[in-house]
Amino acid sequence: MRSKIVAGNWKMNKNLAETESLLTELSAKLPDTSAEVMVAPTYINLMEAVRHLESSAIEVIAQNMHFAQNGAYTGEISADMLLNIGVETVIIGHSERRAYFGETDAILAKKVKTALSKSMRSIFCFGEELEDRKADTHFNVVEKQLKNALFSLNANDWSKIVLAYEPVWAIGTGETASPEQAQEMHAFVRKTIAEAYNDDIAANVSILYGGSVKPANAKEIFSKPDVDGGLIGGAALAADDFVAIIKAI
Ligand code: 13P
Repeated sequence: MRSKIVAGNWKMNKNLAETESLLTELSAKLPDTSAEVMVAPTYINLMEAVRHLESSAIEVIAQNMHFAQNGAYTGEISADMLLNIGVETVIIGHSERRAYFGETDAILAKKVKTALSKSMRSIFCFGEELEDRKADTHFNVVEKQLKNALFSLNANDWSKIVLAYEPVWAIGTGETASPEQAQEMHAFVRKTIAEAYNDDIAANVSILYGGSVKPANAKEIFSKPDVDGGLIGGAALAADDFVAIIKAI
């Protein structure tokens, strides 16, 4: 069965002291939940976050990593470096990586393969831009993103893949996909995976929604049958909001 997941992507926010203080507050307020709860602080604070959450159910995950094993890639972080400090899950293909750092489907395919080769779990992000939705090409765009980066994987690999549908027009804009729009896309993604692989794989992959999820709209979005949780940006930066979103699942 697929798991429910609420993951906070902190992006380029929170210095060390702020990271510690948010994690302390989160740990203290963490509700009883069957969902997996994850936080993705910036690289430089990952090690401290892992230490801080040693005896907590909250998993520390990374926002990105490089596809190469090691070598001359100034400024980059490898899978082994993450594993070495106890980080076993990585966000791959966030739209901000695609838009601002030139990450193409081909690069993302390599990153996913590297993560798999290290038995790391990937949270693979995808989603259309506003123009795509206006032109009614959002299903094609999403299908292509998934095909290019993921559909050469083996069936077994899918146990290490979590998907996150993040329509670019809903990220950090305050504009959310309606619960119906999210459900429609998640169902489409599941159908596309069932066609490319089989029903079992499609039924077992967790598909998160991301894009302006807040305490006020989380419950309705999470109530949709193909929405298995959320990848939360802004609202993950305040403990009370993040906790309220966890409670909504
Ligand atoms: P917001 O929740 O701030 O819209 O960000 C969503 C996101 O990009 C999570 O990865």
